[in-house]
This record gives sequence, C-alpha cells and structure tokens, in this order.
Amino acid sequence: MKKIVLTGAAGRLGSYLREPLLKLADKLVSSDIVEEIGKLHPNETYVSANLSDLPAMIELLKGADLVVHFGAIGDEAPFDEILQANIVGAYNIWEAAYQNGVKRVVYASSIHAVGMHKKTDFIGTNVPHRPDTYYGLAKCFAEDLASLYWDKRGLESVCMRILSCAQVSNPRAVGSWLSYDDLIQLVEKSITTQITGFSIVYGFQTMTVQRLIILWLVTLDLNQKIMLNNLRKKSILKNQNLIHMIKVQFVREDLLHQLN
Ligand SMILES: NC(=O)c1ccc[n+]([C@@H]2O[C@H](COP(=O)([O-])OP(=O)(O)OC[C@H]3O[C@@H](n4cnc5c(N)ncnc54)[C@H](O)[C@@H]3O)[C@@H](O)[C@H]2O)c1
Repeated sequence: MKKIVLTGAAGRLGSYLREPLLKLADKLVSSDIVEEIGKLHPNETYVSANLSDLPAMIELLKGADLVVHFGAIGDEAPFDEILQANIVGAYNIWEAAYQNGVKRVVYASSIHAVGMHKKTDFIGTNVPHRPDTYYGLAKCFAEDLASLYWDKRGLESVCMRILSCAQVSNPRAVGSWLSYDDLIQLVEKSITTQITGFSIVYGFQTMTVQRLIILWLVTLDLNQKIMLNNLRKKSILKNQNLIHMIKVQFVREDLLHQLN
C-alpha cells in the first residue's frame, strides 16, 4: 500500500496508531486540527486541517489508498460542535475518499451508537441504532454514511464500534475494555482484510480466569454477513484464545466474487 491517511493523529488513540500504520504503507499522512504533533516518524508527514473543510479533506486524501478516520470530538458535547467535527466531518471524509478513489475508510465508531439498548440485551451488529447522546447520534450518521457510500459508490468501510479504549482504572471498566494493543490489531485487520464491503465490528475484550479474549461480533449475511474465516473451525472458539482469534482475517464471503 502506498499511502494511508490518519485523521485524529494528535488524539489519544491516533497517537498509538501512527507507528503501526507506517508498517502497512510506504507513506503515512497524519492529520489533525492542531498546529503540529511533534517529532514525525520516517515516511510520515503531518497536515494540519479541519475535518469540516471539504476542499482541505479532498486535498488531504489525494493519492491515498486508505483512510483511518479517528478525528472527531471524542465525547458528548453541544450539538453544534458535534455537527461540525463529527457529522459534517464524516461526510467530508467519505466524500473526499470517494472523489479520490480511496479503497476503504476504517472508522472509529462507538458503542454509543447503540447505547440505549438494555445492558442485559445481546447486541449484535444488526440491531437498530439507538444512540444515547449527540455523540452517539453522529456515530449512527457516519455508519449510515458508510453504508450509503458502499451501496451507491462501492467505497468500502469498516466501522469499529469501540467500547472503551483507555487505561483500566476499576473492575467495572474491564467489561467494556479494549486494550491499545488490541485496538492496533483491530485496525490492522480492518486494513489488511482483502474485502470488507460495509462492515461493522465491535471492539472489546473480556477477562476470563486467566486470559483476555477478544470478541469480535461480526455479522453474517449481505445485510450484515461477515465471517471470521477460521471461526468456522470451532477450535478457535473453543480455544477462546485472544492471540489466535485476533490473527484471523475476516472475509465477506458474499463479496469474494468481486475479487480478481
Ligand atoms: N477512546 C475511546 O475509548 C473511544 C471509544 C469509542 C470510540 N472512540 C472514537 O475514536 C476516535 C479517537 O478517540 P480519542 O479517544 O483518541 O479522542 P481524542 O479526542 O483524543 O482524539 C480526537 C482527535 O480529533 C481531533 N479533532 C477534533 N475535531 C477536529 C476537527 N474539526 N478537525 C480535525 N481534527 C479534529 C482532535 O484534535 C483530537 O486530536 C474518536 O472518533 C472517538 O469517538 C474512542
């Protein structure tokens, strides 16, 4: 891959992704609204740009193979702020990606897109959106945008509904936790998987007696049909081994015919 663009590069999660992304492309263009992000890695350049500026996003994504979109207001905020950065910003990213012939958007969505479902319910990727905040509402918008651009324009997206990617400070937080290392692997797999179409995945892990298990809840038909390749080999499920499971590529079997 020649060029990956990372938005939100100055943010908490974006900062963790810069180095790993460089391993997947000849060139990484990191971007954020801040003036500068300090020392750059070899083959990394930095562009300061506002997500709400469409011409700037079109320029940013020129020649890119893929965009990893982590730029946003990262929590609940007044609607006007969410509107510009998270809603208009999302439109600008997908539209700029389309205009530049970018193959895929890897997007940091959130559990807040479905946060009003009962905590006791099993939430798959095919449940209706039930946002719990303006922040979550913007994630719903971006996911629907991703769906539209796939259906109408053939632009792929992986929407990662991250639960909570932060240092764990209390036992309760473990249940919704995604470690930084596993976030990196989730992003890597979302990039290197051959074909994803429009996909939603959850990113979190739970603590078993001695192990962390990553759970990727993946959908299972064209209306959401994704398959973890080796998941069918029940051994992986039996193993419930984080490392094995995360190394698995997921495949849209229904879309394989589109590959040459
Ligand atoms: N941290 C988590 O646990 C978590 C969970 C679910 C989803 N997410 C999502 O992951 C992404 C990154 O989260 P984070 O925790 O690193 O947040 P963060 O606030 O640390 O990073 C977001 C970055 O986006 C940039 N940004 C904001 N508005 C912008 C604009 N108008 N133009 C350009 N850049 C702008 C900010 O400057 C910031 O550097 C966000 O989309 C967030 O919603 C995070």
